[in-house]
Amino acid sequence: MENLIQLVNKIQRACTALGDHGEDGKEGAVPTLWDALPSIAVVGGQSSGKSSVLESIVGKDFLPRGSGIVTRRPLVLQLHKIDEGREYAEFMHLPRKKFTDFAAVRQEISDETDRETGRTKGISSVPIHLSIYSPHVVNLTLVDLPGLTKVAVDGQPDSIVQDIENMVRAFIEKPNCIILAISPANQDLATSDAIKISREVDPKGERTFGVLTKIDLMDKGTDAVDILEGKAYKLNFPWIGVVNRSQADINKNVDMIAARRREQEYFETTPEYRHLASRMGSVHLGKVLSKHLETVIKSRIPGLQSLISKTIMDLEMELNRIGKPIAADTGGKLYTVMEICRSFDQIFKDHLDGIRPGGDKI
Ligand code: GDP
Ligand code: NA
Ligand code: MG
Repeated sequence: MENLIQLVNKIQRACTALGDHGEDGKEGAVPTLWDALPSIAVVGGQSSGKSSVLESIVGKDFLPRGSGIVTRRPLVLQLHKIDEGREYAEFMHLPRKKFTDFAAVRQEISDETDRETGRTKGISSVPIHLSIYSPHVVNLTLVDLPGLTKVAVDGQPDSIVQDIENMVRAFIEKPNCIILAISPANQDLATSDAIKISREVDPKGERTFGVLTKIDLMDKGTDAVDILEGKAYKLNFPWIGVVNRSQADINKNVDMIAARRREQEYFETTPEYRHLASRMGSVHLGKVLSKHLETVIKSRIPGLQSLISKTIMDLEMELNRIGKPIAADTGGKLYTVMEICRSFDQIFKDHLDGIRPGGDKI
């Protein structure tokens, strides 16, 4: 049976094709389906290590970097585990083009960001969809959001600070959003942008995963044990510490897979963290998130199923309203999405039969 995460990925792509990327940007005929899909959003202040965490989970160097506000559109990153073969990437806006050169992936993310924002360096809530197929990933979907910032730079309007915060909040306030809150260990946790905003929308920490970066950069004589053991700031899920590549490592092009190995060694050989080593690091983080996402999706199947039935009805009505002949563009998209929804309806039913002995359907 197809992996549930991959099924949800397909619905997500179908939503985007229809112009549905959540309440704030809705223009499509499927106004609420996107919001109902469980997703994991990455939040944190600028330079907290968000890009590094994502690249480490993927095991590949592929995100644009630089000073200032680099991420200006949500990046929906869908990871697909393949058993063997060469890793490659595909963008939804460039179907049938396989990228095996990840420097070209980085360039395309940056170009596609500019295409939507018109080189104004502004932000847009229209997501970019990127799929990565690799033997080094777990099945997982993550949404990278612009970094929270305090000041506008290089000619960006001052409003961008508030606009970013609003966009991030709109994403993470949805109850189906799992929050990956990134905080750097070399700053006081009380000043963490990620913690501040996630606490606002999830005060009990029920759907927030705390990730602590830059543990290697803490002042001598201090350590992160209290945070990592959940004593300093309690969340429902255990905190996960990571050690990403430093800027010097990036400049030297230190291999990502080697960096993940070195990260694991760091936790195993540092006396303070040795007892926590088995639940630290990016590989562990990827596994935990994949498992959690699958569990959440499973628990949401009945709700998703009824929403999908409703969506099919809405789409049928929309098609009737438009009447024939309809514009190939709009009509074609609606038909495609309806077909996808129909197949989902069936797959979800099968899945429920599979997980309920006796096969009593909802
Ligand atoms: P973002 O702005 O949140 O996406 O942050 P980046 O991932 O681009 O990281 C900002 C800078 O911090 C880069 O120079 C990274 O190399 C560095 N960095 C991130 N995480 C760590 C870490 O765990 N240890 C060290 N030493 N440097 C890190
Ligand atoms: Na950041
Ligand atoms: Mg970044």
